[in-house]
Amino acid sequence: MVRIPYVANDARYDQMRYRRLGRSGLEVPGVSLGLWQNFGDRHQREVQRAIILAAFDMGITHFDLANNYGPPPGAAESNFGAVVASDLRPYRDEIVVATKAGYRMGPGPYGEWGSRKYLLSSLDQSLTRLGLDYVDIFYHHRPDPDTPVEESMMALDQAVRSGKALYAGVSNYGPERTLEAITILRKLGTPMLVHQFSYHLYERTPEQGLLDVLSREGVGGVAFSPLAQGMLTNRYLAGVPDGSRITHSQFLSQHQLTATYLERTRALNDIAAARDQTLAQMAIQWVVRTATVASAIVGASSVTQLRDTVSSLSYPPFSDEEIAQIERLAVHGTHRN
Ligand SMILES: NC(=O)c1ccc[n+]([C@@H]2O[C@H](COP(=O)([O-])OP(=O)(O)OC[C@H]3O[C@@H](n4cnc5c(N)ncnc54)[C@H](OP(=O)(O)O)[C@@H]3O)[C@@H](O)[C@H]2O)c1
Repeated sequence: MVRIPYVANDARYDQMRYRRLGRSGLEVPGVSLGLWQNFGDRHQREVQRAIILAAFDMGITHFDLANNYGPPPGAAESNFGAVVASDLRPYRDEIVVATKAGYRMGPGPYGEWGSRKYLLSSLDQSLTRLGLDYVDIFYHHRPDPDTPVEESMMALDQAVRSGKALYAGVSNYGPERTLEAITILRKLGTPMLVHQFSYHLYERTPEQGLLDVLSREGVGGVAFSPLAQGMLTNRYLAGVPDGSRITHSQFLSQHQLTATYLERTRALNDIAAARDQTLAQMAIQWVVRTATVASAIVGASSVTQLRDTVSSLSYPPFSDEEIAQIERLAVHGTHRN
């Protein structure tokens, strides 16, 4: 197949809103693209390429990966690296590539968690798969109960000092461990840039201390799975579509489509409709409604979905009454006061 050489859209920076990560110099788009699902070897390469390039054309400069994204683990980095090589190489200085290490990536004792040994070798492997000299952000992907936080943070500091990463971040750390990590990194001279956590209308754990720590310490927040993997969209409101994530992912189950879920989500969908937006757009807009959450890292299985979510940033802010209505439904599951 003859491929038309890619030339980025000249208007790519006109629509997107960029938001600062904490008290750093780095801005990221309000909507970022994550490659956890839909970018492994089971998914068509041309669709993956189309989504990645459409993202960049819409002003999405921030791409979120991890060593283990696939399947098989590593495939998302290799597939993204192939698109960088074929299309995005001239734009390398315009994109922020993030990767992580923490989950199981290889066999044996050095294949997961948070040792210096694992984190630094994993970063080298990620760079090889991505075909890059450096990543912009290197995260410790999950807290390790058995490794001192100092050791994992010293590995992140070393990753930055060696030039293999520009910034350091953590993901899935609770508030206390986050504060410990922030303090250690600050002493080492590599301030924590960003924390990545699960946050959406139905998942409020970050509101129990983490967001306060980040805001006080000037660390940026980015929310992953802001659409609850599709459950906060209209995807499942009229049945289960063929090929949807719930039909093939081990992380989502049809048991979650309860009567309560459907009732609540239809009611949220009605609020979105009254605002002339889709539920996906409303869910994204809600996640980034405060400055502490700089970006929503979304997934997409098509360019159409990504276009839908990206335009969420162009709607008017929520009124107090809308926020109250949304909170009653999302937190308490009721329409009543
Ligand atoms: N740090 C961590 O531990 C961690 C964990 C999880 C995720 N993440 C990051 O967060 C990223 C996003 O996670 P996620 O994929 O779960 O995010 P998500 O945005 O909550 O879910 C994406 C899924 O929602 C559906 N969807 C997306 N846009 C839609 C739209 N406009 N209308 C209807 N349905 C829509 C699609 O489902 P279908 O596939 O059914 O079409 C899509 O695959 C990941 O790629 C990864 O980078 C990080």
